[in-house]
Amino acid sequence: MASTSMSEQLRGDVAVVTGAGRGIGRGIALVLASRGATVSVSDIDGDAAASVASEIEAAGGRSHSAAVDVTDPASISSWVDSTISEFDKVDICVANAGVIGAPGFAERRDYGPDDWRMTWGINVQGMVNTADAITPHMMERRHGKIINIASHGGRAPRGVPDPGRGNIQIPYGVSKAAAIQWTHLLAIQLGQYNINVNAVCPGRLWTPMWESIALNHRALTPELSDLSAREIFDINIRQSMPLGREQTPEDIGKAVAFLASEDAAQITGQALNVNGGAIMN
Ligand SMILES: NC(=O)c1ccc[n+]([C@@H]2O[C@H](COP(=O)([O-])OP(=O)(O)OC[C@H]3O[C@@H](n4cnc5c(N)ncnc54)[C@H](O)[C@@H]3O)[C@@H](O)[C@H]2O)c1
Repeated sequence: MASTSMSEQLRGDVAVVTGAGRGIGRGIALVLASRGATVSVSDIDGDAAASVASEIEAAGGRSHSAAVDVTDPASISSWVDSTISEFDKVDICVANAGVIGAPGFAERRDYGPDDWRMTWGINVQGMVNTADAITPHMMERRHGKIINIASHGGRAPRGVPDPGRGNIQIPYGVSKAAAIQWTHLLAIQLGQYNINVNAVCPGRLWTPMWESIALNHRALTPELSDLSAREIFDINIRQSMPLGREQTPEDIGKAVAFLASEDAAQITGQALNVNGGAIMN
């Protein structure tokens, strides 16, 4: 049987990735490009998206970037349309854009209406908007891979959030549970069109998102007051993960590349934890 080298895994495929200007989305975009895909990078921060596209091009790949707010369906559609007109098609769609809560999250103990509005609007409705923009094209081609970035925080709760630290993380957890259920239901809808829909559930990564979670833990826990956000993160990793180490954007990108590849042709409707074993369901 012929074997394919990793740099050929996604050769000829075109991918779109939301929220890819930094953090996990950037890592996913770079891994997909390193596996041979053309990657159209978007973020609400258009400059950040452009700089990731430049990184891909500097490494010899093909890319394109746009400023896209996933809460605005028109902005997603014009990005998808411009990607198709430049590269002819889209094979892979990664809905990654997400927020932990509304601005000021790190200092607050309890959620407010803006936390619900933003986590629902971006993490759930934004993910739905992204699929809505791309599925007509994939259905027409009877081919496509959709990968949603959820979180192991959307699984059954394991003492997170800690009641002693208020309820600030609840809107996020609810939004990520919704992202997993959305993945299951969309997979049922799109299977007949040969479109696979899966989720990746990252564990804990040192991105600006987890930095604000660590700062929130410190603000609400007097015993942590002398520690840096990074030290709080490191303790959390040691205590929660059988493998004892944090995940990286590249780890998440590798799982996405697998689900986007023909090796995963029979996998749909699944949510894959990439979390060092922290939560096992
Ligand atoms: N960091 C973690 O430990 C962790 C764990 C589990 C899941 N996740 C999920 O992974 C995804 C990426 O997280 P991250 O840690 O890289 O976060 P991050 O905050 O570092 O990056 C998020 C990116 O999304 C962009 N974004 C925010 N709102 C947007 C909008 N309305 N439209 C388009 N782009 C928007 C931001 O500009 C930013 O570039 C999120 O869905 C997050 O919930 C992260």
